[in-house]
Amino acid sequence: MIPTYNEAANIELVVDRVRASVPAADVLIVDDGSPDGTGDLADKLRAHDPHVHVLHRTTKEGLGAAYLAGFAWGLARDYDVLVEMDADGSHLPEQLPRLLKSLADADLVIGSRWVRGGQVVNWPRRRQLLSRGGNLYTRLALGLPLNDSTAGFRAFRRHTLEGIDLGTVSSQGYCFQVELARRSVEAGFRVVEVPITFVEREAGESKMTGAIVREALVRVSQWGLQRRAEQVGALVSRHRGSESG
Ligand code: GDD
Ligand code: MN
Repeated sequence: MIPTYNEAANIELVVDRVRASVPAADVLIVDDGSPDGTGDLADKLRAHDPHVHVLHRTTKEGLGAAYLAGFAWGLARDYDVLVEMDADGSHLPEQLPRLLKSLADADLVIGSRWVRGGQVVNWPRRRQLLSRGGNLYTRLALGLPLNDSTAGFRAFRRHTLEGIDLGTVSSQGYCFQVELARRSVEAGFRVVEVPITFVEREAGESKMTGAIVREALVRVSQWGLQRRAEQVGALVSRHRGSESG
């Protein structure tokens, strides 16, 4: 699944590269009515290749909503594995086989920038700090055993998506990635990180905004507080139990 908003300069090349790297895979482009004509280019790709599918959505509702629509599309059909990846070339299609291979022993594989062997090419220092800082905060607040919980290059087994109640996922922006990682870990699924090389886009613009960062900060903090409250609650009831018993 490749979500797109104004990726006319990128969509054809990335689809070609996915088709070359994993010829058996189908590609679903989830376009939010891009004003730059990405949706029309996607339709052209579909017309020439039965492995390509397109989901046209009328309004831009964020990465989370686009992926939820893509998951629903894929789960309604007979796909066993669903992959998330960016349209702008940051996630190298040539590294997809490695993610899929690791899925043999995992329920969710995350292509990770911040594990040994992972790297980021051409990202401004500001963006690196934001990602590293965000991931550190997320790990501390939520106790997740992950180094890159905001990463957007992932392979899910069908049963993982079916086991995390997608109907109640509410993050709109990139925080969606954290929410899915957290739910997968908490549901007891095996979540594995494999190193990837993330290459900053050369064409088009990032859709990252202050609102997306704020949503992530607020929600991760809320989840963290909730988790602490639950831990305290469990301690208190254990203490009461030992007093009365
Ligand atoms: N359909 C749709 N709707 N697609 C969207 C939307 C949206 O509202 N917002 C972004 N996208 C698509 C973009 O077109 C692109 O294919 C992909 O989602 C990633 O968006 P970018 O704008 O390129 O993200 P980035 O490079 O700044 O962010 C990267 O880092 C984030 C934080 O680590 C990505 O890897 C994200 O997935 C990651 O969460
Ligand atoms: Mn990008």
